[in-house]
Amino acid sequence: MGAARASRVIGALCVAAAVAASVILGGHAARAATESASTRNVHEGVATCAGSACHSRQVESGVTVRQNELITWQDRSSQAGAHSRAWRVLTEPRAQAIAQRLGIGPAQRAKECLGCHADPAPANLRGAQFQLSDGVGCEACHGGSGRWLASHRTVDGSHQANIAAGLVPLENPVTRANVCLDCHFGSSRPGQFVTHEIMAAGHPRVSFELDLFSSLVRHWDVDADYVKRKGYAGGVKTWAVGQALALDRAVSLYAAPGRGQGAFPEFYFFDCHSCHRAISDDPKARPTWEANPGRPIPAGQPPFNDENMIMLSAAAKVVAPALAARLDADSRAFHTALTRDRAESIRAASKLGATARALSAAFAARSFSRAETLAILDAVVSGDGVKRYTDYTGSAQAVMAADTLLNALVSSGQVDRGAAARVRPALDRAYAQVRDPNAYRPAAFRESLAQVAAATRSLR
Ligand code: HEC
Ligand code: HEC
Ligand code: HEC
Ligand code: HEC
Repeated sequence: MGAARASRVIGALCVAAAVAASVILGGHAARAATESASTRNVHEGVATCAGSACHSRQVESGVTVRQNELITWQDRSSQAGAHSRAWRVLTEPRAQAIAQRLGIGPAQRAKECLGCHADPAPANLRGAQFQLSDGVGCEACHGGSGRWLASHRTVDGSHQANIAAGLVPLENPVTRANVCLDCHFGSSRPGQFVTHEIMAAGHPRVSFELDLFSSLVRHWDVDADYVKRKGYAGGVKTWAVGQALALDRAVSLYAAPGRGQGAFPEFYFFDCHSCHRAISDDPKARPTWEANPGRPIPAGQPPFNDENMIMLSAAAKVVAPALAARLDADSRAFHTALTRDRAESIRAASKLGATARALSAAFAARSFSRAETLAILDAVVSGDGVKRYTDYTGSAQAVMAADTLLNALVSSGQVDRGAAARVRPALDRAYAQVRDPNAYRPAAFRESLAQVAAATRSLR
């Protein structure tokens, strides 16, 4: 049987299952669901994606999509299953302790937590089978399926038609970055921001890199059929757009009014470890901070978290030199403005955000050659940019970048697996340098990066 025909058969079965589900729901609920579904992107719930003929096959189907996506999403043994656990962790002791310290009642019912630990669909867009306890369900990323659930696997269905009906085009790195960043950085919507107050109550640090984190939750194959239906951005573009939009998100949220605690700005935006360093009266043990050429700020001032600025600068230097100069100037101006006053910092933040968006657009509109990718990798791990690795967060982001760029070169066939494997030991040593933030030493980290640089040069 041809793959196309087989997938049509499966499509027909899934539609039958969806119809059956609406019959079981009973006349009233089903009618209400259909009526609202005709106009709005109702989130129908993970149960409506299940079924052995839909997305919860035990083994991959081998046609079109894997169809075992739900099994991957639920995988207890890996990070790929993290989203299905997102609500459940709120019921566990660590989350309960956070909520108790904050005085916000049980975490699993607190709006401060549910915006990210469950599908944030507002109450009027929740279908009959929607459950907060499903955690970050399929529709939290793919969009409410009210208008495409029945049609997305039919014979006449096309990706374009699904998008028109509300399916989120996650293959587009700009779209994907904005979806993930809502929870993996924060947004201006209710319940989607981890304030420093929440951090101080015990929330883990939130770190993110779009391409790497996408690969950790991968439940899809980028094969010829996928590329034909959706196109493929590739790892380098996904990484670069992810960096640009992460910076845009950070400075845009910083510039928006209403954050901060009393006289202080919101600390979440600043480099955590610059404030949380151990101090000692032993003169030989100080200072532990280092001056940073990318940040003209005086000693003793907390730096704005610059992890994405550093990565973005490396990518821009290679593929958009004019914007790179603008980015570096805007970044320095923003850091400087932060040493002056809030109003000036907000103006500088807006300017920097605009530059980050321009870079995102420039990256999205082009492809990245082997030579460019190697040059970006080189700019991340060597050269002048390395002097900016004075703090933990930027350094950890650099190791993720090196990993991602190397993987992209291998998966696109531009570097062979064996050659990449020879870079691994150096990369693993760099990862070891950022494993424990409290043991981070900038000089030792830069030394480990020099070894990555030496190893990657052999790939040229
Ligand atoms: C802006 C989105 C966001 C908000 C709001 C948020 N979290 Fe989280 N939370 C995350 C992300 C993302 C992670 C995973 C961090 C990582 O590993 O990179 C996480 C991880 C956690 C973990 C660790 C889970 C584990 O598997 O070890 C706990 C516990 C937790 N959050 C509790 C809470 C509580 C309680 C609240 C409300 C007070 C809350 N979170 C609010 C995004 C959020
Ligand atoms: C954290 C966000 C997220 C969640 C949650 C999620 N997905 Fe995905 N999914 C993605 C991304 C990103 C892609 C890749 C881009 C694309 O093809 O849309 C993808 C791709 C897919 C594909 C497309 C494969 C193809 O060949 O076109 C299917 C099918 C899919 N997901 C089903 C599911 C199902 C079913 C669930 C729930 C059990 C789910 N996803 C949960 C992010 C998510
Ligand atoms: C609605 C909020 C939400 C969205 C949207 C979301 N995530 Fe998450 N994600 C979370 C939360 C919360 C956790 C932590 C869950 C836990 O540890 O139990 C998490 C965990 C993860 C983890 C595991 C991290 C770790 O340290 O174990 C990965 C990987 C991940 N997300 C990738 C993505 C990607 C890629 C996207 C976008 C395609 C995305 N997420 C979109 C909320 C979200
Ligand atoms: C501008 C300085 C500053 C920055 C930046 C900052 N913090 Fe804090 N943090 C503080 C102060 C001040 C306290 C309160 C300390 C106390 O009461 O002993 C605190 C408390 C905490 C605590 C509680 C410590 C404890 O002993 O219980 C945690 C956890 C924490 N911060 C995490 C973070 C994280 C994660 C970040 C980055 C996202 C961050 N902080 C950024 C200044 C900062």
